[in-house]
Amino acid sequence: MHHIFKEGTNTEGPVLLLLHGTGGDENDLLPLAQMISPSSSVLSVRGNVSEGGMPRFFRRLAEGVFDEEDLVARTKELADFLDESAEKYGFDRKQIVAVGYSNGANIAASLLYHYENVLKGAVLHHPMVPLRNVELPSLKDVPVFIGAGKQDPICRPEETEELASTLESAGSNVELFWENTGHQLTKTEVEAASQWFQENF
Ligand code: MLT
Repeated sequence: MHHIFKEGTNTEGPVLLLLHGTGGDENDLLPLAQMISPSSSVLSVRGNVSEGGMPRFFRRLAEGVFDEEDLVARTKELADFLDESAEKYGFDRKQIVAVGYSNGANIAASLLYHYENVLKGAVLHHPMVPLRNVELPSLKDVPVFIGAGKQDPICRPEETEELASTLESAGSNVELFWENTGHQLTKTEVEAASQWFQENF
């Protein structure tokens, strides 16, 4: 997968896995990593799917309607890529904390839905429920921050609540941060994620 790896000054701590939104790329969320944990190493990945030239992490059939078969396959592809990257760059595989926005948050949530110990934690900015009717692995000791907008027409508040309670049922400690905004990412939301990160890692 196309990616950027930047070693941080703290090579023992969490490695931030950056996952962009639809139409973005591996450069988009680099400023977020600086705000959340400037000393951390960063692995920023570009989605392998192209929707009319816009990179994504998995296919969708329509706005908000995911191609589940592709989602499952792409989730495995990303999980395998994380294993390979840890070996290639020599970081601790158990230290990966995802930071995703929108489509990137959705594939991060899908990693959590499918694999045990795949992430140490996750910051999900404006995520949706990646899929339903799956049994989640244990997410004990995998804290999750969710940033959401009360007016978000893509990730509706009911769906945000459903995602939070599903993750909690699997044992995750979830912090839900609401903004009175839509789908866009705000500075206060990233600041809240940064504070959550300092408290948890
Ligand atoms: C998705 O397709 O993952 C969501 O609708 C969010 C987005 O527009 O990327």
